[in-house]
Amino acid sequence: MCGIVGYTGRDNATPILMEGLDTLAYRGYDSAGIAVWNGEDIVMKKEKGQLSNLKAILDREPVTGSCGIGHTRWATHGEPSYINSHPHGDTKKQLVLVHNGIIENYVRLKNMLVERGCKFVSDTDTEVVAQLLGEVYEGDPLAAITNAIRLLEGSFALAILFRDDPTRIYCVCKDSPMVVGFGKDGAHIASDIPALLSYTRDVTFMGDKQIAVLSPVGIAFYDEFGTPIDKGCTHIDWDLDAAKKGSYEHYMMKEICEEPVAFRKTAEQYVSFREQPKLKADCFPWSDEDAKTVKRIRIIGCGTAYHAGLLGKKYFQELAKIPVEAEIASEFRYSDYVFEEGEVLFLISQSGETADTIAALRMAKQAGIRTVAVCNVIGSTIAREADEVLFTFAGPEIAVAATKSYLTQVTVLFLTAMRLGLIRGTVSEERAASLLSELADIPQKMQRLIDERGEIQYFASREFSARHVFFIGRGIDNALSMEAALKLKEVSYIHSEAYAAGELKHGTIALIEEGTLVVGILTQRKLAAKTASNLEEVRVRGANVLALTNGELPDIASHCSKVWKFEETNELLAPFLAIIPMQLFAYYMAVQKGCNVDKPRNLAKSVTVE
Ligand code: F6R
Repeated sequence: MCGIVGYTGRDNATPILMEGLDTLAYRGYDSAGIAVWNGEDIVMKKEKGQLSNLKAILDREPVTGSCGIGHTRWATHGEPSYINSHPHGDTKKQLVLVHNGIIENYVRLKNMLVERGCKFVSDTDTEVVAQLLGEVYEGDPLAAITNAIRLLEGSFALAILFRDDPTRIYCVCKDSPMVVGFGKDGAHIASDIPALLSYTRDVTFMGDKQIAVLSPVGIAFYDEFGTPIDKGCTHIDWDLDAAKKGSYEHYMMKEICEEPVAFRKTAEQYVSFREQPKLKADCFPWSDEDAKTVKRIRIIGCGTAYHAGLLGKKYFQELAKIPVEAEIASEFRYSDYVFEEGEVLFLISQSGETADTIAALRMAKQAGIRTVAVCNVIGSTIAREADEVLFTFAGPEIAVAATKSYLTQVTVLFLTAMRLGLIRGTVSEERAASLLSELADIPQKMQRLIDERGEIQYFASREFSARHVFFIGRGIDNALSMEAALKLKEVSYIHSEAYAAGELKHGTIALIEEGTLVVGILTQRKLAAKTASNLEEVRVRGANVLALTNGELPDIASHCSKVWKFEETNELLAPFLAIIPMQLFAYYMAVQKGCNVDKPRNLAKSVTVE
């Protein structure tokens, strides 16, 4: 959600800023802009719409300089327009800045600033910050920032250029991510790691209200009072190509194709596959004593991460016999929930920067409840603040639609449940060994599914005009259906809903009419016959039925117009295979419809505001 980049150094800043903005485009945006010091003045260029619009302006009116900031804006306050795009400046023309986040008290501040003579030109909350900084600025940028941020409520990541000090970039953030790094030709700032990877792998994550001052020769850090502080670096070993599209037409397809590797990399962190596969006990946060004190687990996430949590719930209940609830972070944070002793809060997040999930984490910490994050980004807010982190090793995920991150989140949750089950005696060593040896075969099975994707593409080419699609299943398959429905609606804009198969008859079956596509997910032998009956009920009412099954489940074909089978596997492991055809189906439906697969309308990759 919005992207910030900045560079000061020996090179021309403009192409570096444009490349960085292009890398961050996956976060979602509807306008873009840059400001560059050209040796005499700070020149701003901005435009509504795609980055190509800004690039066309820069081709006509080039800007060259060694220090600059850039921004892709995802509109929150004020419509997407030239006037509302960033950068924004102050009336006295002392500074320009770009901003991510939301200033919650902007109306109050704006009224105060208007009374003091500030002339606002945009509808944004961001301009309030620029005007406020302009009002408190007396020649010392650091002092102005420390004074201004005291008055700001809400979330912000700011990169600021002061006209008096135009080769330095001043940055500060609160509840909105920023990462800085020093490359061989200068200092860089970005909202997310992929934009820095071409320049450096050693990056520093900014903490709340910390200030970074980037100059062509280094980066200095200060606390919120302006006192110098030391900050270490984190080495990022993501493959640079992992953040590039390569020969794939879309990141989403590339990331689906990376799933066997992402799965294996993640599993290998927690399982030793030498000889007899075994969990690496020291990679999990529980000692034997500790695990016995866990009385209840609550899993929190948003969107796809919440759906991974729903599968996690099934795993913890089945393997560790622990009561579990999975909840959406934005609901949980305002639920006046009373934590109980012995409760553990799992926070699931790819980015580690989702505002509502961070809020839930902080609630639990305040209540003294143990927090465990399942997270893909080292150094992100959630990874830093949780008591323990179980990392996923999906690598950078650029497509807005989560695919490989979901798969790796489910992997970590499955293995964690098994670890707890082993300690608590609810999983025998034999059962664990058998599950783990089947797990070792999953990447090859996934690969075969991906290799056979032509069938799914063909099916999508016949079904893409569907207006409504229902996904139904029971138990684990219901949790999978929810993710399958989200994937389809977010990338193809087709209305899709997940329904517990047994619940259809209680109302929703009224929506089934001639030709409605219903996808049944049947991977659990003991529930398959029941879901098959539900498929028959919709088939006889005219639905076009597709079933996805685990191996040879009996009596399915007669209820469906099409059956997709994946290779038989233990039912607990079935989600690792079943999700791939569902993701591919969503992808191909979107491609057939000509949708912007990697950047669906209205969506942003990292939801850093409420
Ligand atoms: C859907 C999707 C979103 C995210 C959600 C949480 O494909 O990507 O639903 O899963 O915004 O994001 P993270 O995992 O970064 O907390």
